[in-house]
Amino acid sequence: MFKKIEAIIREEKLDDVKEALQEIGIIGLNVSEVRGHGRQGGIVLNGRSGTYKVDLLPRVQLNIVLSEHNVEKTINKIIEASRTDQIGDGIIFVYPVEDVIRIRTGERGREALMYDGDIDSRKEKVKA
Ligand SMILES: Nc1ncnc2c1ncn2[C@@H]1O[C@H](COP(=O)(O)OP(=O)(O)OP(=O)(O)O)[C@@H](O)[C@H]1O
Ligand SMILES: [Mg+2]
Repeated sequence: MFKKIEAIIREEKLDDVKEALQEIGIIGLNVSEVRGHGRQGGIVLNGRSGTYKVDLLPRVQLNIVLSEHNVEKTINKIIEASRTDQIGDGIIFVYPVEDVIRIRTGERGREALMYDGDIDSRKEKVKA
């Protein structure tokens, strides 16, 4: 079973999170710039002509499709690397994934998601 982790984090935490994920062997991922708000609905700023509200704040969205058994470890790493304990640290969603198809080879599922040196191939090396 595959899951998709969608982590919406502070832009300035992206490098730390990428590094932390590389350490545990999470290789395939993609990133996009998003704007949004959570509970507070944005922030109020003080400008020259008074206060104004910025309701959509920039964040980075990190998408990772991975085996279900690696989800908890990956979530913990993301939290560890991105948390500041201040309001606006972000949010993580986890979705089920139906299938994965690597376009060049036609591989599906697990084959399509295997990378040299990734979290699962490391485990197999330890076993051998
Ligand atoms: N329900 C949601 N659906 C989609 N995206 C969301 C949702 N809630 C938050 N986001 C996204 O997550 C980002 C981070 O939100 P934020 O960190 O402010 O969450 P929060 O729940 O308000 O937590 P905190 O109390 O720490 O601020 C938002 O800018 C937005 O992009
Ligand atoms: Mg918030």
